[in-house]
Amino acid sequence: MVHILEHEDPILFVPGPSKLIPAARAALARHVGHRCPEFRKMFRSTVEYLREVFDTEGEVHIFTASGTGAVEAAVTNFITRDDKVLVLNFGTFGRRFREQIERKCRNVIEYKVEYGLVPSPDKVRAFLEQNKIKELDVVVTVFNETNPGTVLRERVRDFAKLAHDYGAIIIVDNVSGLGGDYFSCSRWSIDVALSSSQKCLGAPPGLSFLTLRTYEAEKKLNKTTSESTYFDIKISRKFLQKNETPFTPAVNVLAALHAALKYILENVGLATWIRWHYERANIIIKALTMLGLEPFVKQEDVRSVTVLSFKYPSQIIAKTLRNELYKKVGIDIADGMDELRGKIFRIGNMGWITRRDLMLLISSIGAVLCEYNKEISASLGEAIREVFSCYLSIA
Ligand SMILES: Cc1ncc(COP(=O)(O)O)c(C=O)c1O
Repeated sequence: MVHILEHEDPILFVPGPSKLIPAARAALARHVGHRCPEFRKMFRSTVEYLREVFDTEGEVHIFTASGTGAVEAAVTNFITRDDKVLVLNFGTFGRRFREQIERKCRNVIEYKVEYGLVPSPDKVRAFLEQNKIKELDVVVTVFNETNPGTVLRERVRDFAKLAHDYGAIIIVDNVSGLGGDYFSCSRWSIDVALSSSQKCLGAPPGLSFLTLRTYEAEKKLNKTTSESTYFDIKISRKFLQKNETPFTPAVNVLAALHAALKYILENVGLATWIRWHYERANIIIKALTMLGLEPFVKQEDVRSVTVLSFKYPSQIIAKTLRNELYKKVGIDIADGMDELRGKIFRIGNMGWITRRDLMLLISSIGAVLCEYNKEISASLGEAIREVFSCYLSIA
């Protein structure tokens, strides 16, 4: 038997990497040296585009690394050994951020909430008061928590205020939400934010970014000595001024990222690109609910639009769904992580996804469910019709 995946790419519905914007895929073939005028032009323009996406007036550093590299950069440049750091943990990537900080810092306070919920700023304040914590140096949070698929949205502004009231800066990981949901460093008073190329921007993995925009972030940077040469912002800054990076960047990925950002910002418009993510999230949730599936995150205003999680309806589906989708139609979706492994599945709704992809996703999930529960067959037709006929700005 010849399998489709020997000849065609899988359809990516994992929460990154995502399906590439066609212009980004084409740009991957570009080769250019990183100390020439052509590169500098492209680099400068990429940085400007990223400033627009982060909505930051500050500088943006680009590292050749996946998202974890930007987390590493944040830790090494803004956190010292004796800092008092508050980490909000409402999912796997908050937990990982904490662990990266703990490699260096002795004084980490974690505020954890059950996965599927997000922390409430008032409760965090009460927690700090109860524990007689009067000052902090850094507050760290994920914006869009990829496992389980929750998002802070405007609440992040209240956490920024909390951080500032306690004399701290706030560092926000928006690896899985940037470009897919509204985000604004300047309106929400975020000191430092980070993200990476392979999720909602429809570009390949390999680059991550960090923006710092406030006087307080600058002061903290100046008080901290980076143990890492590769992620040292002070070194990166010297080269940023010349529109270069200190070390050889992944030039092809940069060309692809540049093409993706150009498409998003100049052809589509950022607000529209984000709206596409919302439209697709709504239709996926509607169709899968028609098939009897239940979203894992109950509270709609904290449900991510870029990572959609659903409870497995039975043990048998938990064991078969991903395998069947991958083997039979080449669709890649994700399981839950940590304590949610085998309990939820996650659909990455990121980057370049069209109605054709959605049709295949819904009909294939429906087909697998039907194998184990014949009653679903009747709603499958309706769910597919719903996707077929819904309004989508990208068809
Ligand atoms: C919120 C968040 N932070 C950090 C990371 C780590 O990124 P990477 O896997 O690109 O290193 C991810 C990856 O999914 C993520 O979703």
